[in-house]
Amino acid sequence: MGLEIADESSISIDELLQAQAHVWNHLFRFISSMSLKCAVELEIPDIIHNHGQPITISELALALSIHPTKVQSLYRLMRILVHSGFFAEHKISGQEKGYKLTLSSKLLLKDYPLSARPYFLAMLDPVFMKPWQCVSAWFQNDDPVLFSKANGKTMWDYAANEPNINHLFNEAMACDCRLTATAVISKCKGVFEGLESLVDVAGGTGTLTKALAKTFPNMDCTVFDLPHVVAGLQGSENLKYIGGNMFEKVPSGEAILMKWILHDWNDEECVKILKQCKEAIGSKDKGKVIIIDIVMKNQDADEQTIETELFWDMEMMALPNGRERNEEEWNKLFVDAGFNHYKIYHVLGLRSLIELFP
Ligand SMILES: C[S@@+](CC[C@H](N)C(=O)[O-])C[C@H]1O[C@@H](n2cnc3c(N)ncnc32)[C@H](O)[C@@H]1O
Repeated sequence: MGLEIADESSISIDELLQAQAHVWNHLFRFISSMSLKCAVELEIPDIIHNHGQPITISELALALSIHPTKVQSLYRLMRILVHSGFFAEHKISGQEKGYKLTLSSKLLLKDYPLSARPYFLAMLDPVFMKPWQCVSAWFQNDDPVLFSKANGKTMWDYAANEPNINHLFNEAMACDCRLTATAVISKCKGVFEGLESLVDVAGGTGTLTKALAKTFPNMDCTVFDLPHVVAGLQGSENLKYIGGNMFEKVPSGEAILMKWILHDWNDEECVKILKQCKEAIGSKDKGKVIIIDIVMKNQDADEQTIETELFWDMEMMALPNGRERNEEEWNKLFVDAGFNHYKIYHVLGLRSLIELFP
């Protein structure tokens, strides 16, 4: 017996074929990230960069010691990465073409100071990919955290017990902080000017706050994170590390900074963290919380931005059990935690900076 489609007569074969192409496009979306992962693991961006001029496929194959039977496959890998904008073709002479870096592949160089390579490779590590194999099962059981369903523990407990993953994760965060610090200091310097003290809550290994401490030498900075993250880290004249749990107590300071923290948690947990931050600011005149996170733009943005925000939201569901929020949802958290008003600066690309006042 054939499958009946209620309005079968109104669907044309062309529409069905178009739908099939749509299914295939989404079926194979993983090939986009996996192809790029392969290029990054092979250090193709670094080889092109070190070559100093556009590199031909035979030069690239030679540099990579590619087996002669696989040069055509290397060409096919490069072709899809040209299509996705990670390399560009440049005419050398006659029919011969060479590959150049684009700004996106420059961000994946090993030695580029603002490289996103550690973050890119960490998120595609099998430990962080495993939850994606369990999503449908997770929806139908009572396990609250998808990462735990896949890996037996929450992401934070996993990192606390696996030094390799702790290192991989902290390095991933540090690399993101280098680019963020540059953007924050260039676009939002005024937010930090005149502050006497700043506590970076769940600040990882302190890369962002190290940059702020250097830019504002009169600001006393504290990086606060779980004990296994800050263990053994050396501070400087105006920067110190404190280990602890932000749900129990946050060290006091004039300003509390939280980058990429609240999107890791559900609403109830966020309100608890924000209340701890409010207590940490106390009655200081200029006290404020500075949040760096995504403020979802809903349908008010270009297609790539909307899709990337939705990817982020799903990644937060799969890893820490958090979520991304639009302005209305952020506002609700702030009101529930007893804050008075806020100001949003949409100047950090996909993320925004929010100044929150008690
Ligand atoms: C997504 S990372 C962000 C780190 C850093 N702010 C950055 O942007 O690079 C989240 C951080 O929260 C920390 N964390 C998780 N639970 C915590 C807790 N209960 N108390 C303090 N820090 C915590 C993790 O160790 C991790 O460093």
